[in-house]
Amino acid sequence: MTPRPSALVTRRIPASVLATLESRCDVDLHAGRERISREELLRRVRGKQALICLLTDRVDREVLDAGTDLRIVANIAVGYDNLDVAYARSRGIEVTNTPDVLTEATAEFTWGLILAITRRIPEGERLLRAGGWKGWALDFMLGSELQGKQLGIVGLGRIGLAVAVRAPAFRMRVAYTTVDPVPAGCSGPLPVPQMQALSFDELLATSHVVSLHLPLTDRTRHLIDGKALARMKRTAYLVNTSRGPVVDEAALAWALREHLIAGAALDVYEREPGVHPDLLALENVVLAPHLGSATTETRTAMADLAVRNVLAVLDGRPALTPVP
Ligand code: DGY
Repeated sequence: MTPRPSALVTRRIPASVLATLESRCDVDLHAGRERISREELLRRVRGKQALICLLTDRVDREVLDAGTDLRIVANIAVGYDNLDVAYARSRGIEVTNTPDVLTEATAEFTWGLILAITRRIPEGERLLRAGGWKGWALDFMLGSELQGKQLGIVGLGRIGLAVAVRAPAFRMRVAYTTVDPVPAGCSGPLPVPQMQALSFDELLATSHVVSLHLPLTDRTRHLIDGKALARMKRTAYLVNTSRGPVVDEAALAWALREHLIAGAALDVYEREPGVHPDLLALENVVLAPHLGSATTETRTAMADLAVRNVLAVLDGRPALTPVP
């Protein structure tokens, strides 16, 4: 009898999804509340055919070398900047991510952030809970309307498009710019009438809300730096639900402090779970703890897709969603 393959899973996954994996594999689950330590990851990946990991796990050359029997690394995330994909491939290890299943949840959350910062919702709640609300007044906590204004999408992949298609509901115009080619499956007729392609600089200079939907690559790291922020309108807002290092946080804190832009709403940070201390001290920024895909439905679907990728590869079938 051939031995069952074994898989390391670096964090708890929904019970139903775990049961599917366990029906076909021996599973070594890191069930702790904290993320798996580097030492544990290096030790426990040995002898495993599959690694199911999170965006918080750095799967680099050292980890891949420790996993001498690995056949697949399945990241439970659409982003895969935490993985050394080129090295994995050179070792013949398949690498998969979880596109599509989190698109709608992340787009909905992006709109939540847009509304939160432009209408000052978290700031208002902080004030109210602190007992600072003195009652309705005509000029109290005024925000900024969306209707008739331009939403600028930077990165027109799946999530960028899903954010864009919701814009007409708020009567916003949409402009977009791309840094890298649009991923397969995202091209075709643009779903928003009169969506305008602009250069990066034009988009920054003309948008009321600039929303980032880019993978983290060498080309996108600190794409939004002091110079980019200075090009934005003083009345504009920056929203980031992509990857933290796309924005230079120190430069953003400076731009917010100096009121070079009106506000920002962030879900991702340069050194998660750390947040630049200057941002924590500012009122004109909404700070969320990387919740873009955090719905029960979506997180279950992400784990399920990772497990289906693992089972496909271990069965000798092609992966469902190999990283591009
Ligand atoms: C991803 O999948 O890359 C997201 O950041 C998780 O929310």
